[in-house]
Amino acid sequence: MADKLLTIEHLKKSYGDNLILKDFNLTVNRGEVVVIIGPSGCGKSTLLRCINGLEEIQGGEIKLYGEKIDRNKKNIAEIRQKIGMVFQSYELFPHKTVLQNIILAPIKVQKRSKSDVIKEAEYLLEKVGLSDKRDVYPRQLSGGQKQRVAIVRALCMHPEIMLFDEVTAALDPEMVREVLDTILELAKQGRTMIVVTHEMSFARAVSDRVLFLDKGEIIEEDIPERIFDNPKTERARRFFNTFEYDAVKNHTDTLNRKV
Ligand SMILES: Nc1ncnc2c1ncn2[C@@H]1O[C@H](COP(=O)(O)OP(=O)(O)O)[C@@H](O)[C@H]1O
Ligand SMILES: [Mg+2]
Repeated sequence: MADKLLTIEHLKKSYGDNLILKDFNLTVNRGEVVVIIGPSGCGKSTLLRCINGLEEIQGGEIKLYGEKIDRNKKNIAEIRQKIGMVFQSYELFPHKTVLQNIILAPIKVQKRSKSDVIKEAEYLLEKVGLSDKRDVYPRQLSGGQKQRVAIVRALCMHPEIMLFDEVTAALDPEMVREVLDTILELAKQGRTMIVVTHEMSFARAVSDRVLFLDKGEIIEEDIPERIFDNPKTERARRFFNTFEYDAVKNHTDTLNRKV
């Protein structure tokens, strides 16, 4: 039996009169990597923000292991700790070093032992190739390095699920790869993730399931092999074709990594 980690039922989200998500349903199992693809403005970020309890919702419910994610509930802070999120823009504290950025919340919020957290932070930094950046400030890092630190910072909270929202969209092309490799590595470790991306060959390599969204609705949903090679809808086919060139150009060998 699949182990349901996240369930979204009949989610409705609007901004004023602007209905973004009408009746959105999604279940993510433990260990599953779901990639979400879709045109700009279709509601991908809104969906992730709802999952992370950052948005007021107008209907339906979102549950993490049966526990309702409701930003008005007392335990929302506790539930949110189980959800790691990395955005397109870097959210590191500029006046704290890399290590300080990573250990702050585990120590302050989770009240874990400082020495344990530092040990874990150092281990994770090493895994992403940033041991030598432990004591520098964010401004001394490249965009790709900042994103890897942001990922480590999220991981250090021991989340049940990681949400990635176009984390490479603002990066120079030569830095995209190092960040995608980090996420591929997390997939190999069996982490549960929802990944919003426009990187098609990465999407194919990292995902167990791909959702194609348009106007807040799932237009198509399938395993990557089928949805990319043989999309059922004309809408998805057209969208994937637009991206084919870039994907092949930038990440020719990403495909071979998840084996
Ligand atoms: N805070 C907000 N207030 C009002 N409208 C918003 C807000 N955030 C997003 N929207 C609108 O919601 C729609 C979906 O946006 P978004 O979820 O960011 O799309 P995507 O991430 O797929 O590009 C867009 O039309 C956007 O303009
Ligand atoms: Mg977005």
